[in-house]
Amino acid sequence: MRKLVRDNINSIKPYEPGKPIDEIKRELGLPEIIKLASNENPLGVSPLALKAMKESLAEVYRYPDSNNYRLRKKIAQRFNVDMDNIIIGNGSNEIIELVIKTFLYEHEQVITSSPDFLIFKLATLQEAGKVIEVPLDNFYCDLDKIYEAINEKTKIIFLSNPNNPVGTYIEKDKLNSFIDRVTEDIIIFLDEAYCEFARNIAEYPKSLKYLSKPNVIICRTFSKAYGLSGLRLGYGIANKDIIQGMNKARQPFNVNMLAQVAGEAALDDKNFLDRTIEITEAGKIYIYNELNELELDYVPSATNFILINVKQNANEFFKRLLKKGIIVRSMISYKLNNWIRVTVGTEEENKKFIESLKKVIKGD
Ligand SMILES: Cc1ncc(COP(=O)(O)O)c(C=O)c1O
Repeated sequence: MRKLVRDNINSIKPYEPGKPIDEIKRELGLPEIIKLASNENPLGVSPLALKAMKESLAEVYRYPDSNNYRLRKKIAQRFNVDMDNIIIGNGSNEIIELVIKTFLYEHEQVITSSPDFLIFKLATLQEAGKVIEVPLDNFYCDLDKIYEAINEKTKIIFLSNPNNPVGTYIEKDKLNSFIDRVTEDIIIFLDEAYCEFARNIAEYPKSLKYLSKPNVIICRTFSKAYGLSGLRLGYGIANKDIIQGMNKARQPFNVNMLAQVAGEAALDDKNFLDRTIEITEAGKIYIYNELNELELDYVPSATNFILINVKQNANEFFKRLLKKGIIVRSMISYKLNNWIRVTVGTEEENKKFIESLKKVIKGD
């Protein structure tokens, strides 16, 4: 008998999403839960995006614009590029999938760091590709080792910059020389899901200049700084030939109508974006200070989350924090056994997180 499920799919360890907040509340009998597990925006949805969605609700009986015309136009204007340099995805997850679908033959290889965003690996395995993982060097992306790992089967190199789950970034000089060294028949995928939080760092690369390269794809999302995770909206910026190829691999109506209008409005909501960055920066300083006092190691972050060494089993620590109504991420699945990742929340959420952290450390 033939096997039904393809071997490459069968061998995949499924992504483990967190449980919904309501379910946890019910299970633990808690009135309130603070979720700091998925790097969402603690300020909620941009008011302008919310308004735009409300105004479009009655239109959803129609299919959305297959070309994402208005949103692409807005992004193009914002970054001073051509509309043909842009593709919109159902979350940046879809952009990752499209890149693999478009460029990777079965049994070709991708290179990613370890740890790095899990979807790079998952999406490659789904398309029967092979993943080479290059360890981070003391929490920083090791571009020299990645370069050494390239062979004749390498087709795509995934770099999240800043890196999730670690929060560090690749400096512009290092990225420049790496991109110059890699041959142009290998796609370099720069996942900049957290770039808005790194915008004030002088050494953070201004990646749009790589658009002149035929093999570089920049990927961004509305899920983090723009607060639209639930809508699933991301985009890729690249050379026109790349975008044309990826467009052939996508479904015609891949992005829903509400996401399209919300994305457009969110780009105009400068006030919301600025407040998001401000509260994140203030939150990071507060949490760093508290961690210093507690003598807990952490990785200084260019994002809206912080990786923290809690000096004990992270799964157990996670469970004990959860009982106090705080959800973070245990990093055990990333082989960081004593580390948790926490999203920077509102001032009040951060205070409650630190209070609970102190109690768990004391064994309360
Ligand atoms: C590095 C990185 N890339 C992409 C994404 C996915 O974002 P989206 O919600 O746009 O699919 C995330 C989300 O956590 C991320 O951390």
